[in-house]
Amino acid sequence: MKVLVIGGGAREHALGWKLAQSTKVQSLFFCPGNAGTAEIGTNISIDMMDNNKLVKFALSNLINLTIVGPDDVLASGIVDVFRDAQLKIFGPDKFATQIESSKAFSKKMMKKLDIPTAKFATFADYDSALRYCEGHDLPVVIKASGLAKGKGVVICHSRNDIQKALRSMMIDKIFGEAGCRVVIEEFLVGYELSVHALSDGKDVVMFPISQDNKPILDDDKGPNTGGMGSVAPVEILDQEQMKFVQKRIIQPVIDEFRRLEHPFIGCLYPGLMVTPKGIQVIEFNARFGDPECQSYMRLLESDLFELIESCTSGNLSTQVVRWSEKKAICVVMASGGYPGDYRMNKEVVGLDTTVRSDIIVFQAGTKKSQGKVVTNGGRVLSITVTGEEVSMARERAYAVIGKIKFNGMHYRTDIGLLKKSMTNF
Ligand code: AMP
Ligand code: GLY
Repeated sequence: MKVLVIGGGAREHALGWKLAQSTKVQSLFFCPGNAGTAEIGTNISIDMMDNNKLVKFALSNLINLTIVGPDDVLASGIVDVFRDAQLKIFGPDKFATQIESSKAFSKKMMKKLDIPTAKFATFADYDSALRYCEGHDLPVVIKASGLAKGKGVVICHSRNDIQKALRSMMIDKIFGEAGCRVVIEEFLVGYELSVHALSDGKDVVMFPISQDNKPILDDDKGPNTGGMGSVAPVEILDQEQMKFVQKRIIQPVIDEFRRLEHPFIGCLYPGLMVTPKGIQVIEFNARFGDPECQSYMRLLESDLFELIESCTSGNLSTQVVRWSEKKAICVVMASGGYPGDYRMNKEVVGLDTTVRSDIIVFQAGTKKSQGKVVTNGGRVLSITVTGEEVSMARERAYAVIGKIKFNGMHYRTDIGLLKKSMTNF
């Protein structure tokens, strides 16, 4: 089979790495891919937001299955365009992707389905939003309703913060259309978990729970990023809580999209907050998490192609998913300046020192230039290591990082340590 993976991050490199292990996969294509994916497949230089060009490519190259990584590609409606052309594609359609691409849509659905989530109100008008916040307890959370590359959530501790956040989103439109509508919600206290569930539109298979670290600095300080590290599995929820997540959070969404005749075929990924009052949904994503996916792919023992193919064929219930008993950790190495402006084209050295079966470096913002690997994005590498215990994997991950160098590189030193909020909880 020929498989096309859309995206150019370490998530897509990890998916490709796992797909390449399937006896059913003959060739892999990545759009746009990176220097790492070029080693396991063919990178194609089509704009990944150009649905029509991608359909043409898939038709003329007889692609059997396409897998979409990034949220904005899903939100562009690529799945609808591929399905219209009778091409198999893994991901929700444009309507169902709204569970991620519109927080207003998502919160409304959660309310309707009685899914536990922070109390909220939605506004499309600056003055009304400001007035509402004036009567709200602090801190209050202001979110751009649309996609904002992980930067659309502001936790406001003062009236001044509120005014600044609302003004930047609704008047200055720093996120364009995405910030014209805002969701304002109560601040939740607890610890965060990532849940991933594959679905064929009817049944679901839940992955073990994982956790990511979004802020750029140690101790969860500094601005949020796409994700600076992950760990899986995180065995925090008991059987009852896992059942609760499946029955009260995942399955109702899958059933609702099926009822609306937009079956959710893909990976449903709710971000959860475990609070003293119980489990609450912070948000829903409609794709694999990055960097959670990198840790998951190191632990998945089943054939990823078969699993995804069974989602697109509507027979996920026939699959038994096997996981390694080990733990996986992923530490992200980023360009200096990220998540703000950062420099590129810095040579990456030391990648050849990491050839060991328990260590895999998935690449993200990298490209080949004159035979060398150079930086080409904010998040550059995902160092993934498996071990019997997280502490062992963590030690080896940081030993590897010590051997890799590029000018201005930045990484967190506390990935894999229990978050303070969890231990104090
Ligand atoms: P989101 O894009 O909605 O996942 O939000 C990004 C991050 O903001 C989350 O991972 C949380 O750390 C934080 N956050 C979002 N909503 C809330 C909330 N209601 N209370 C506390 N923190 C939140
Ligand atoms: N891990 C955060 C995200 O994928 O959105």
